[in-house]
Formats: sequence, structure tokens, C-alpha cells
Amino acid sequence: MRDIKITNISDKPQEVDAIPVLEYTHPRALQQYTNADWIPQTMQSKASKDGEYVILLQYPFMFRDTKLNYFTSNMPVSSFETDRKKFLGDNEYGTWADPVSLQDDELSNTEALRGDNIAALMHHLGTLASGQSRQLITLLGQGPNLDAARPVIERWRNPEEVEEALEELSAFWDSYLSTMQVNTPDSAMNAILNVHNPHQCFITRTWSRYLSYYQLGLGARGIGIRDSSQDVLAIIPAMPEDAKAFLKTLLSFQKQNGSAMHFFNPLTMEGSEGDSLEREDRPHYYSDDHLWSILGITAYLKEAGDFAFLDETVPFYDKDKQGNPLESASILEHIQRGLNFTRSDIGAHGLPLLGFADWNDTINLAKGAESLFSAHLYGRALTEFIALLEHLGKDTAGWRKAYDEMKSRVEQHAWDGEWYVMYFDHDGTPVGSHKNQFGQIHLNGQSWAVLSGFASQARARQAMDSVYKRLNTKYGIKLSTPGYNGFDPRYGGVTTYPPGAKENGGIFLHPNPWAMIAETMLGNGDRAYEYYSQINPAGKNDLIDLYESEPYVYPQNILGDEHPQFGLARNSWLSGTASWMYQTGTQWILGIRAEYDGLRVDPCIPSKWDGFKATRKYRGVTYYITVNNPKHVCKGVAHVTVNGGRAEGSLIRAERGASEVNVQITMGSS
Ligand code: GLC
Repeated sequence: MRDIKITNISDKPQEVDAIPVLEYTHPRALQQYTNADWIPQTMQSKASKDGEYVILLQYPFMFRDTKLNYFTSNMPVSSFETDRKKFLGDNEYGTWADPVSLQDDELSNTEALRGDNIAALMHHLGTLASGQSRQLITLLGQGPNLDAARPVIERWRNPEEVEEALEELSAFWDSYLSTMQVNTPDSAMNAILNVHNPHQCFITRTWSRYLSYYQLGLGARGIGIRDSSQDVLAIIPAMPEDAKAFLKTLLSFQKQNGSAMHFFNPLTMEGSEGDSLEREDRPHYYSDDHLWSILGITAYLKEAGDFAFLDETVPFYDKDKQGNPLESASILEHIQRGLNFTRSDIGAHGLPLLGFADWNDTINLAKGAESLFSAHLYGRALTEFIALLEHLGKDTAGWRKAYDEMKSRVEQHAWDGEWYVMYFDHDGTPVGSHKNQFGQIHLNGQSWAVLSGFASQARARQAMDSVYKRLNTKYGIKLSTPGYNGFDPRYGGVTTYPPGAKENGGIFLHPNPWAMIAETMLGNGDRAYEYYSQINPAGKNDLIDLYESEPYVYPQNILGDEHPQFGLARNSWLSGTASWMYQTGTQWILGIRAEYDGLRVDPCIPSKWDGFKATRKYRGVTYYITVNNPKHVCKGVAHVTVNGGRAEGSLIRAERGASEVNVQITMGSS
């Protein structure tokens, strides 16, 4: 449904025609481009007069009696067109910018019997005085037949119904966005955190990497398990129930051995091993997919306090011949299965085997390679799981041992002198080392060594300083450097890109917030904020000719400084950057994050800030938080009051019964 308002903004009366038009594709959309035999012979249109209105019907012949597309409007129609060739005119030399048929008063009333089908309706709106407006509502829908569609059509012809629906929609957004609102000294940060970033997070949660300007969805890939497991993290505060249900869906693609499928198709609920199937000689699993959901489950529990969730059961993906799941288990067991998979799936240094790839799905090394990324993600997931077990009063000794084992292997083998390496090849050669010609230092190897807690304080600082020195640019942090300069089958996908593009030395944005989180963990709010601001799309207006992406959406990648088009952004909307930048801004820089017992307020902000304000809804209570920074520190909470009374520490215990809580924080040495 489209609610269109046409206003005469000139100072003279104008005669106005409105001709909404759309073009159909066959439901097998790819074949529209590849099968010029079958598709054009099957596409047909019909017109149905409905009083003064017209309903255009369209169908591939096989769906004539089951799935009918319809297009109509709420204004009288004097003529219509359903044949693209006739609409554009001049045997299709006419263009969409200047369709030849619009030189006549009326369209040809052709009911297309084949070929490229469109739907166009001619409305003569009459003369509009200066400043006068008309409303035109159009409706595109699908139903089993026209009779079944009629009630829907009649409903949406009514402007009052349309208005009500739009009000409902804006009420949804008001409520969604009111979960957290911030007021910082940085207007670009306020704009992105209050509206655009959480909006993008909703879109990535809903559509993930399914279908976009850049991905084909059906056929090419589906919903990414690791992608969605990270997207969901950002919407947990606003939509915990949705997150809970979605986490269960994602867990149903975990296998009995603890690993997970790579994609799934939400229409058929079929999982797939993704690109790994392209190489017979490589493993058909990814070393990280199954670990991400552990972060989601623990984040959900911290937000909602709903520990019964751990006992709910979800099937594993393995099925018998009839397609029934072979086993179901509790959420708690799913977590343990995932951790145990990584614990035992290890290589020569005792580090997790890479599988086909880890988060960076373009580094595809031969069987036997080990992944530091997956070691760190495992470390992070273990840290979260141990904290959960502690909260539940359960024994953690075995899991602590697992954590310490992995930590000591990383510390023993992966330090390269000034930073951590990223992989070990099947023969033990490091990848992401000063010894390599290309890809000497990888961002994720450093930030995640901090996120996992595996790096000692000194190494963590040095590794993150190496990131600043070797990888940072004015448009964002590069994923690795220098870029591989030529295809090399030993490394796979990454070397199919020229240096500076995407994962090959480009500014891949998704991992940028991980570096910011690492900096806040190390207490460097100035640097975290510098990294934050340099990729904030709300600051890109003046660069738009170079940047080319929407200045309110995080893109997936920006070309790096080895590429002649350094600064050009691509793949907007569908990127894990949205989720992680939202988490970074709200939970790590502003430092307001849910824990099992309450809200933690532990900011790590730029020292120049005098403070900030925020409101956060948490377990049904609204927290009004004011942070003052009189000593101009980056981190440290000196003094806390809750509803006027002095409180201990930066954890604000969850309130029951109250509807509002006032929190005053004074930063300084803790
Ligand atoms: C894309 C993919 C994601 C992958 C990332 C890095 O964002 O959707 O699955 O992890 O690229 O290669």
C-alpha cells in the first residue's frame, strides 16, 4: 500500500495526471533473466472494472487459479496499460524517464497475453490550485482469486484505514526507539544512536543477509547463522521476546556434534553448509557459527532475567529419513554442545581448527589450519557461560579449566612480537605475522584477544597500539594489511579481491566496533571515540560524492587506502556493523549494559566530554541516567546515587515495583 500525496508547489494552477506504474517479475525471479523462452510465454494480465476503479490482475499462467497479483487505487481510472512494450513505446526504445505512451491523453487498455508485464493506471486528478493537494492510495497484493482479495482491496481504499495503519506503525517505532535515548555532546552520535542505528538493527534482524541490493537471497544464500546470531544482539533490549524466539530458530540449525549449519532458508527451513560445499577437499563446517548464539542467549538472559529459557528444548538439525529431528535438548545443553565441539576440534597447537573459514569467510586454508579468531570467540563465549553458571550457583571448575587451557595455548603460540597472529596454516606457518609478505597484521586477531580476556594487559595494549599504527585510516580501520596482490589458491577467497577491497585490506566495518569495545575494555575512551566517529555515517554528509552510501546507514565495507578509490562505501543496510556499533555506542562507550542482577553503568567516553544523559528501559522500569565527568577522565565511576541515595559501585540493581529510577553518576577514580 502506498499513500501518495501530490501537492501543487508552484504558484499557478496545474492540471495533474497521476500514473503509478510497476513492473512484474516471474516468481522464479532469476529465470526472468536467464530463460527468455518459458517466462515471456507464461506472463499474462487482465483488467477488471470495479465501478469507477480498475483492478489490474497479473499471473504466470500456472498460478492463474491460485496466486493472483493485483494492483489498484482509490481514484477513478480512465485507462490502463499492462504491456511494457506499449507503455515505453517505440518498440521499447522509449525510456522509463520519458515513456512514449504518456504523450497521449490515455493509455492503450491492453491486456498483455505474454511478454513483459507491467501495471499502469491513468488518473486525471483535474486542476490543482497553488498549494492544493490530492491523496492517491495504491495497493499491490496477491490472493488466491479476485473474490478473496476484495475485502482487502476495499479496506485499503479507505483513507481512514490507511491513516490508522500508519499511526500504528509510528506507535511501534516510538515504542521501539524509546528503549534507549541518549543526549551526548556529539549531535552525530545522538542522531545515529537515537534513530538510525536502532532502525538499521531492526532491518538486519528481520532480513539479515537474506535479500538486498547486494545479495540474491533465495538460490544464492539464505539467512546466515553467524550473521543473524549477531544481528539479534542489538535488538534484545527493545524486543526480548522476538529475540528469544529467533534464538530458538537459530539453535535448531545446530548439529548434534555441536557445530552449526551456515545458512538457512526461512521459507523451507532447510539449512545449508554454504560456500564450503564448493570445495570437496575442504571441511564442510565453519569454526565459529555455533559459538555466536551463546552470546545471544546470555545477553537475552541478562536483559529479561528469564532463566527458565535455559530449560526449553530445541531440536538439533540432524534428521532421520522422514525428516524428523534425531534429538532435541535444552538450551543449556545446546550451549555445552557448542563449547565442547570447539574444545575438542583442535589442531597441532591445540587451537580450534579453522573448518572452511571463521568469521572472515574469505580465508579458506587447507585442512588442518587453526583459527585464533575462533579461539577468542570460544574464550568470550566461555567467559559468558561461566558468569551465567556462577549466577545460577552451579559448578564452573571444568569450564574454567577449558578457558585456562585455551588461554595458555594462545599466549604460548600466537604472540608475534608486536601483535597476535591470526591463523596457523596446515603446516604450522603463521598467517598474520611480520614474517608474511601480505596480510601481516589482522584486526580481529588483536581486538578479539582483548574481548576473550586471553591477552595480558601489556600485550593487549601493544596489540591495540599496533592496530592504530598499522591498520587505522581516516575512514576506518582496515581488516588486515598489506593486501594480497594476486590470486593465491592457498588463501582462497580473500585473494580474489584487489588490495584494499573488502576482506583484502579493505575497511571492513563489522570488526571496527570490536576494536572500539577492546579500547573501552582497556580504558581508552579517547581512542574508542575516535574510531567510533570516523565511521559514523551521520558525519559523512560532506564526503558524500566520495562515500556514495546513505549518510544514516552503516555499510559493510569502505575501500581501503591501498585502493585508488579509498573512501568509497558499499553494501549498506545489511551488515553486522549495525548491531555491533549499536552495542558499542550504548553498552561500551556510554557503558549502559544489562547484567544478570541489574544495569551496569560504566562509561568509557572521550575525556573532553563533561558528561551525558540517557534513558534506558529495563525489565519494565525506566532509568533516567545522568553522568557527570568533572575530572575529564575516560573511565572510572567515583560516586553513584540511585533515587537520591548513595549507592555502591556501578551496578544499578534491578528495581521491582518502581516505574522510574533516577541514577546520577560522577566519573573520576573509582
Ligand atoms: C559478510 C558475511 C558474513 C561474513 C563477513 C566476513 O558480512 O555476511 O557471513 O562473516 O562477510 O567475511
